[in-house]
Amino acid sequence: MGDDGKQAAPGATPRHVAIIMDGNGRWAQARGRPRQAGHKAGVDSVRAVLEACAKHQVTCLTLFAFSSENWKRPGTEVKLLMQLFQRTLEREARRLHKNGIRLRFIGDRARFSAPLRQAMDEAEALTRGNEGLYLNIAVSYGGRWDAATAARRIAERVARGELTPEQVDETLFAREVSLADLPEPDLFIRTGGERRISNFLLWQLAYTELYFTDRLWPDFREQAFEAALQDFRCRQRRFGLTSEQLVETEQHA
Ligand code: IPE
Ligand code: IPE
Ligand code: MG
Repeated sequence: MGDDGKQAAPGATPRHVAIIMDGNGRWAQARGRPRQAGHKAGVDSVRAVLEACAKHQVTCLTLFAFSSENWKRPGTEVKLLMQLFQRTLEREARRLHKNGIRLRFIGDRARFSAPLRQAMDEAEALTRGNEGLYLNIAVSYGGRWDAATAARRIAERVARGELTPEQVDETLFAREVSLADLPEPDLFIRTGGERRISNFLLWQLAYTELYFTDRLWPDFREQAFEAALQDFRCRQRRFGLTSEQLVETEQHA
């Protein structure tokens, strides 16, 4: 979406922030507590970041909560995470709704229990008509799953004769991946010290500014979020152009 005016301008607040919320387990272990205590403390960081988004007029927030690969963790941790997810959803959906938030889940829902799928569907339906922040939670999500699902949908349309293979291009593909209706992320944040994407939004992050911090997710609150916004404001996003070209475009704007 770099050429349709949907990206944040340099010096601006990002319109769309995508976060890998990592480091919960280490946060708990450093305190001699079970990993689950870190996941619980992480929920408070989500609340803090939501408030900061409202304050800074960020319009879309995408949070990576559970990856396709996280299903391979010990069964007890997966079970506790699913319980926390369902409880938090049941407890927070009304409050999110009251704050005008539009909640959406991206990922492979087929892998969740029926009650959890139902809670997700209900929360989405409840908040669909709101006009505030787009809050996307990536659960059971993988960037490769997303791309493969998009490819399958396109293949089905070709098989039905609605499309020819020649019509399949970047624009068409971009319409099939998750969050196709939203601007692509301007700013990516990963907490917890690792410098990797871990199968988050692979297609959508093509021109996103990347920000990594050693701070663990349960310690990531408003100030830390503001530091990331400030770092973003100092970046020059060139999208393949030269700096001189960007100066010219600004002069003509
Ligand atoms: C992120 O924290 C939350 C999930 C992946 C569910 P981790 O659980 O990965 O915490 P660390 O990286 O082990 O500290
Ligand atoms: C990435 O964290 C996924 C989420 C935060 C949901 P991981 O802890 O699973 O990532 P790796 O295993 O360190 O790459
Ligand atoms: Mg981790």
